[in-house]
Amino acid sequence: MSQYEGDDAVPVSASEYQAFVAFLRTACGIDLGANKQYLVSTRIRRIMLEHRLQSLTELTQLVQQDSQRLLRQKVIDAMTTNETFWFRDGYPFEYLSKTFLPEFAKQKPGEKARIWSAACSTGQEPYSISMAVEEGLRASIVARGCDADILATDVSTSVLDAAREGIYDRLSLLRGLSLQRSSDFFVQISADSWRIKDSVRDRVRFRPLNLQESFYLLGKFDVVFCRNVLIYFSQDLKTEILRKIHGVLNPGGILFLGASETISGLNDLFEMVRCNPGVAYRAKLKGSP
Ligand SMILES: C[S@@+](CC[C@H](N)C(=O)[O-])C[C@H]1O[C@@H](n2cnc3c(N)ncnc32)[C@H](O)[C@@H]1O
Repeated sequence: MSQYEGDDAVPVSASEYQAFVAFLRTACGIDLGANKQYLVSTRIRRIMLEHRLQSLTELTQLVQQDSQRLLRQKVIDAMTTNETFWFRDGYPFEYLSKTFLPEFAKQKPGEKARIWSAACSTGQEPYSISMAVEEGLRASIVARGCDADILATDVSTSVLDAAREGIYDRLSLLRGLSLQRSSDFFVQISADSWRIKDSVRDRVRFRPLNLQESFYLLGKFDVVFCRNVLIYFSQDLKTEILRKIHGVLNPGGILFLGASETISGLNDLFEMVRCNPGVAYRAKLKGSP
């Protein structure tokens, strides 16, 4: 076990690393694999200093105690990668407002589509969904009376707090938002902060959820965004989560994955839908060809 003296890097021996990786995999599914000692060291440094901890072993033992829920949450918050931006990859939002919702409105006039953003980070994804819905309605591409309810979840409570607050600086607005969208959907509240408008926020409800848990109580969805999160999990966990997502999608419901993610051979559950330049996956009825 190596002592931490409060200098830059937290020393991480091979056995300490293995124990920490095992804890993280159990806590939130993230599979760090080999040789990420430096990543662990830099991300937990502040927590080690704040809690005056002497070694990674001490931290790993503490976070596994029932009484240390807050510390455990801090470590999960520090170890998750929360990279996100507005209208990421473009096509899911375009497909939603121009193809899926107009069709949904014809089939279920006056109903709201239920949409789940399953790893929502600081809110850019669910708020982009809400803006896309609003733009569809304004342009009358989506029939009046149709709308959407968006559930946004994440395992990290610190990103959920930021998402709920809905306040962003200039740099984050510049990542994926046109000037038109910034002025349509945000109110400037200080020299370097903009708040999302209530009309966009009101469609979105945030709550914590670890994708390793049961989805049973979430109800059924018409569309699921589970993007840029499965890449952090083992193949078995990915497959298990995709099966659970199929279980909460209405028949014909649509799943969007990240650009580098696939349905991992679950062709019995999903069929590919082309929505140039990307793809989505439509939930099949179990047992259909
Ligand atoms: C890279 S961000 C992707 C955000 C957004 N979906 C996008 O594509 O821009 C990954 C998010 O997954 C969340 N995450 C990691 N493990 C999770 C788990 N077990 N359950 C739920 N969310 C998780 C992280 O906290 C992080 O906010």
